Amino acid sequence: MKILVVGNGGREHTIAWTLLKSPNVEAVYCTPGNGGTATMANCFNLDLAVDDFDAIAKAVKEQDISLVVVGPEIPLSLGITDYLQQHNIAVFGPDKAGAQLESSKSWAKNLMIEAQIPTAKSATFTDATLAKAYIQEQGAPIVVKADSLAAGKGVIVAMTTEEAVAGIDSLFAQGFTTLVIEEFLEGEEASILAITDGQTIRPLIPSQDHKRIGERDTGKNTGGMGTYAPAPIVTPELMEQIQTEVLEPTIAVLQKRGIDYRGVVYAGLMISPTLKPKVLEFNCRFGDPETQVVLPLLDTPLDELLIACTQQKLAQQPPIKWKSGSAVCVVAASGGYPDAYEKGKVISGIESATAQGAIVFHAGTTFKDGQLITSGGRVLGITALGENLKDAISQVYPAVESISFEGMYYRRDIAHRALSNF
Ligand code: AMP
Ligand code: GLY
Repeated sequence: MKILVVGNGGREHTIAWTLLKSPNVEAVYCTPGNGGTATMANCFNLDLAVDDFDAIAKAVKEQDISLVVVGPEIPLSLGITDYLQQHNIAVFGPDKAGAQLESSKSWAKNLMIEAQIPTAKSATFTDATLAKAYIQEQGAPIVVKADSLAAGKGVIVAMTTEEAVAGIDSLFAQGFTTLVIEEFLEGEEASILAITDGQTIRPLIPSQDHKRIGERDTGKNTGGMGTYAPAPIVTPELMEQIQTEVLEPTIAVLQKRGIDYRGVVYAGLMISPTLKPKVLEFNCRFGDPETQVVLPLLDTPLDELLIACTQQKLAQQPPIKWKSGSAVCVVAASGGYPDAYEKGKVISGIESATAQGAIVFHAGTTFKDGQLITSGGRVLGITALGENLKDAISQVYPAVESISFEGMYYRRDIAHRALSNF
């Protein structure tokens, strides 16, 4: 079987790498892919934009591809699934209506209220004066969010009302027209990626992402600087609660709205100090870099699960099998990220990291004149597996240190919080 993965990040490299481990998968195509997918055996990059649905549909037919797996939220929110399904192509990823779970925070909030899913209290505004009056009434800390997709840059966690008011002005000035203002929640975050065929929903192992650029979770928000799985904060009892209080009610309301959702439901949770989960956000796709620690621990062939979702046969699948132990992923980023950074730096040392047993997933890399160079803010995700988290941490850092490019930055404390807490 041949499979097409849409996207070009670390998540897509990981999905392609995992699919290629399956005995049923003879080749994976990636569009547009990156330097990592370009060099993997049996993996081929296509030079098609993720929003060129017509060209993607033609390539699927020409190459005799059986399944399309969509990585990023943008093509999903633009309706890639609707388009390809109209051409009788099997797609793992929700249609445009389902993708609203991520593309509109107010739509997702309404769904959560209808489904009685625990989440932060919130209100939606299109008028700055009313939004500011609400801030004064509620006080700080408080959270201001752009309603629509903002690539991780639309959320302001304000510790003072002044910061929140400035956040409102800044988001409206950037052209966002609708804001969601939300109660500040305290606790520890966890990411639950669940797969669904629109009727049955099954969680993958829990993970945790370090979103801030600085060590001890300080500084600006990024796309994610490192992850670990399984996240010990999500005990089996808590996972059971998340299944019945978050995941199943989400599917029930999607069905009630006539949405046939076949893909990933990603619940970003805040776990309170008393271990109660509340949903911070939903995403309609695999997380990045959560995927880089979750899929390497998967033992069931990934294609079987994704196909079961597209064929609405997830209930018939045996329980998902996992490797024992833990995984840690450290992101190597370009100096300056998440602000301006330079591209085109030559990358060295990947072979040495791989020889030490690490898996090097490419995110922002490309080949130029036969050399592997940086082409994005997050450049590589270096993953190591271990018997437990401590072991995985001790394996990953020597591998990271053997890689270099000018300006390379990474956090040295990925997963350490889990060790000190548990
Ligand atoms: P989101 O894109 O909605 O997940 O928000 C990005 C980040 O902002 C989250 O990962 C949290 O760290 C933080 N955040 C979002 N909503 C809240 C909230 N209600 N309370 C505290 N922190 C939040
Ligand atoms: N790691 C956060 C995200 O994928 O949105």
